[in-house]
Amino acid sequence: MQPYSGSPANLAVYLAFLKPGDPVLAMGLPAGGHLTHGAPPSATGRWFDAVHYGVRRDTGRIDLDEVRDLARRHRPKLIICGGTAIPRTIDFAAFGEIAREVGAILLADIAHIAGLVVGGAHPSPVGHADVISTTTHKTLRGPRGAMLLSTAEHAKALDKAVFPGLQGGPHNHTTAAIAVALREAAQPDFGQYAHRIVANAQALATALTDRGYQLVSGGTDNHLLLVDLTNKGVTGKVAARALDAAGVELNFNTVPFDPRRPFDPSGIRLGTPAITTRGLAPQHMPQVAEWIDRTVRAAADGDESGHADTAAQVREFLADFPIFGETA
Ligand SMILES: Cc1ncc(COP(=O)(O)O)c(C=O)c1O
Repeated sequence: MQPYSGSPANLAVYLAFLKPGDPVLAMGLPAGGHLTHGAPPSATGRWFDAVHYGVRRDTGRIDLDEVRDLARRHRPKLIICGGTAIPRTIDFAAFGEIAREVGAILLADIAHIAGLVVGGAHPSPVGHADVISTTTHKTLRGPRGAMLLSTAEHAKALDKAVFPGLQGGPHNHTTAAIAVALREAAQPDFGQYAHRIVANAQALATALTDRGYQLVSGGTDNHLLLVDLTNKGVTGKVAARALDAAGVELNFNTVPFDPRRPFDPSGIRLGTPAITTRGLAPQHMPQVAEWIDRTVRAAADGDESGHADTAAQVREFLADFPIFGETA
């Protein structure tokens, strides 16, 4: 658990197993992959020969036939599965088979879903991936940090890549906080939390779909929703800013095959871990969707007049759901 964060953890995997210029196969950034999966602006995209797979246009889901074809054609040294905007279950077993067939190391980057994996709400990559990387601050609900897990065979190479390959002294305060987070995650109620995150995400998906929103892949299996706002006549950035003013925190995000640019994309990305921690349940999701819809429709009309009122309603509603550890 010494990597300072998710990006350096992933870089350590490249350093452990690859030489500059080696081929890597990973999910493309516009499809839902992470910058450190060989995206052009990242060091990993500049120093390695990255080939990217995406999702199918008709389903919005990863196309495993495409992954297999690209792996056979490019013979990558490293295959990465996992990403930053994937609303569906990742088939680690299928990725493991493809990696073994072409002799690649398989890295499962479970930064987003680690808490769901620990809580039994998403299948585990253990037994399929050679290396697992994760941040500790997303669904795992710990401090900002990261961890690398591997089979014994690769442990030494990874340890050396982290120190002295990439880092100096350990951040012991973070390591201590990760230990606390892992103890919390090992309790039975964390499993209930993980399942509630998914139930809330699915209820929110239904409530938004009922209001005419187009969800990438048509819904979600996990904690996140990716919404294409094209049919709502507003860009992701304009909507995200309006929602921020209305007390709803999310981010603007590229959607697969987005005709717009990454800094001004067509979509928004929402997650339910934080509201689940506060105690919101599926029956509250229509209300959340209603605030989102009202604000997005106003943003499409260029009308900012109702945002403060929505923010006041959100604040009042959440008074009954205090932040974990918050005293009244
Ligand atoms: C899938 C994935 N990998 C890696 C990272 C990088 O993590 P960090 O922001 O801690 O460097 C992120 C975070 O955004 C991520 O979503």
